[in-house]
Amino acid sequence: MKLIKLDAIDSTNDFLKKMAQDQALENFTVILAKTQNKGRGQQGSVWLSEPGKNLITSILISKTLSNIKDVFLLNISVALSITNVLEELKISSISIKWPNDIMAGKNKIAGVLIENLIKENGKIESIVGIGLNVNQKNFEDLTKASSLRCITDKEFDIEDILNRIIQKLKFYVQKIINKDETFLWKNYHEKLFKNGVPMAFENELNERFMGIIQGVNQEGKLEVLLEDDTIKKYGIKEIKMLY
Ligand code: BTN
Repeated sequence: MKLIKLDAIDSTNDFLKKMAQDQALENFTVILAKTQNKGRGQQGSVWLSEPGKNLITSILISKTLSNIKDVFLLNISVALSITNVLEELKISSISIKWPNDIMAGKNKIAGVLIENLIKENGKIESIVGIGLNVNQKNFEDLTKASSLRCITDKEFDIEDILNRIIQKLKFYVQKIINKDETFLWKNYHEKLFKNGVPMAFENELNERFMGIIQGVNQEGKLEVLLEDDTIKKYGIKEIKMLY
């Protein structure tokens, strides 16, 4: 692993992506920043984080995905790596809200943004961006956000957490390489937030409806049992969970 530490940057994902476009990088090249000026979240959102308080990192994963179809397996691996570390740190009620938000009870404690580059030789390189709330105490407008500090009232060593996540990620990435997909899917479904529980959703037209999550299919779509007894599959932009 090659670790590059920065004080401030626009976005660790953008920084690593640019590096990966310009040169051949070692697998598991890691950018760790204290703060981002333009931290990016899922679906064009911003990622806010108090300077120096949280884990802000991007990790380059190469030589793992042979097909763009397998991208969701990397989502699973990253989500499981983070949940495993949080459980090691004795944080309770950790789950994965589809596709890969990490929840502590009903609050989000970490977010993941994976971006893929297809290199000239056809090989896929993935930029795995992770924002994990560690020592931040207040979240002002973000009522559904939490941190390790909020939950335990203790301070944590951010770099130690990063190293633990990387060790786990190496383990799960090896499962992708070994084509041990059953293992990844089983563990992901065991940790899935609100799996099998009736809850309210909203579709792209802002229409509300009730349903029960049945799981996530091989394409990474959420399968929901609707009130008319049919099961519908939703892509990431097609459904929002209201909880
Ligand atoms: C989400 O919306 O849940 C995803 C948040 C991802 C944030 C991380 S912080 C490090 C990396 N750099 C970015 O600009 N975003 C990701």
